[in-house]
Amino acid sequence: MRGAELFHHSERSLPTLRDYRAAAARIAPYVRRTPVLRASVDGRPVSLKLEHLQVTGVFKIRGALNALLLVRPSRVVTASGGNHGLGVATAAGWLGIAATVFVPGTVPEAKARRIAAAGAQVTRTGTAYADADAAAREFASRHGLYYLHAYDDPAVVAGQGTVGLEIAADLPECDAVAVPVGGGGLLAGVSGAVAPCPVVAVEPEGCPTLHAAVAAGKPVEVGADSLAASALGASRIGELARTAAAVNPVSLAMVTDEEIRAARDRLWEDFRLAVEPAAATVYAAWLAGRVAGQNPCLLLSGANADWTASA
Ligand SMILES: Cc1ncc(COP(=O)(O)O)c(C=O)c1O
Repeated sequence: MRGAELFHHSERSLPTLRDYRAAAARIAPYVRRTPVLRASVDGRPVSLKLEHLQVTGVFKIRGALNALLLVRPSRVVTASGGNHGLGVATAAGWLGIAATVFVPGTVPEAKARRIAAAGAQVTRTGTAYADADAAAREFASRHGLYYLHAYDDPAVVAGQGTVGLEIAADLPECDAVAVPVGGGGLLAGVSGAVAPCPVVAVEPEGCPTLHAAVAAGKPVEVGADSLAASALGASRIGELARTAAAVNPVSLAMVTDEEIRAARDRLWEDFRLAVEPAAATVYAAWLAGRVAGQNPCLLLSGANADWTASA
């Protein structure tokens, strides 16, 4: 299905190719250009963008750093299921900016620990990302501080799109890119940066922000009940992602928690790659035949889990 069939184009503007290129130049001194792995599994070609090898273990540093380099506030307030908070905390630390990160009480320890270690003040509130976001907005407005949204901010989207530029440059033969979707900042950025290459937006059954928005014709609130909820547990799709899905070729795929768990194990068995559940969604969708394309690229977005080797 083409993007235009998913949504009518809304007014909100997306970053342009120039914005993606400027973001890439801006963040290049700080972040890694992550490698791609070309492989074949069960006789089918597939490429993996190893973005879980990014500094901090997740792509979120790209968008957070781009926004902070542009705004240069003295203090930043944000909300996060964990990984965006880690990106903000790390980028803020590099730039000498104080950071306050609101997280839900359900945040995995592997994420909370790393945000605190990066030097941010961590405040736990409520049980879902939406609770933490409401508290962060209230705190920022009460104290007159700069608030940075985790996914619905053009500078964040431009930063996330830089991973798409790398895919387009390093895999010219690629004919589909699969990305996991929470609030859709990654989807918005990558779909803009790789266009006209089609993007497959992959969501867990338990937090289907984009699927629900497509069904309703507008962003709607959904629950966040999945193994991948700490990363993909936004309660509604962002306006920028909704616009991106209208103007770029985007199709949808859904995966179950059982498929995510199995795909995570398969990534280890097939490649010795260890990722967090959100990143395994794209491999799950590909294994199940839900990613079109003869030469697809799967974006392995993060690996902020705990290491539990037994032998
Ligand atoms: C590992 C990982 N993958 C994918 C996503 C989805 O990103 P977005 O919320 O921009 O859709 C996130 C968001 O936190 C994440 O942490």
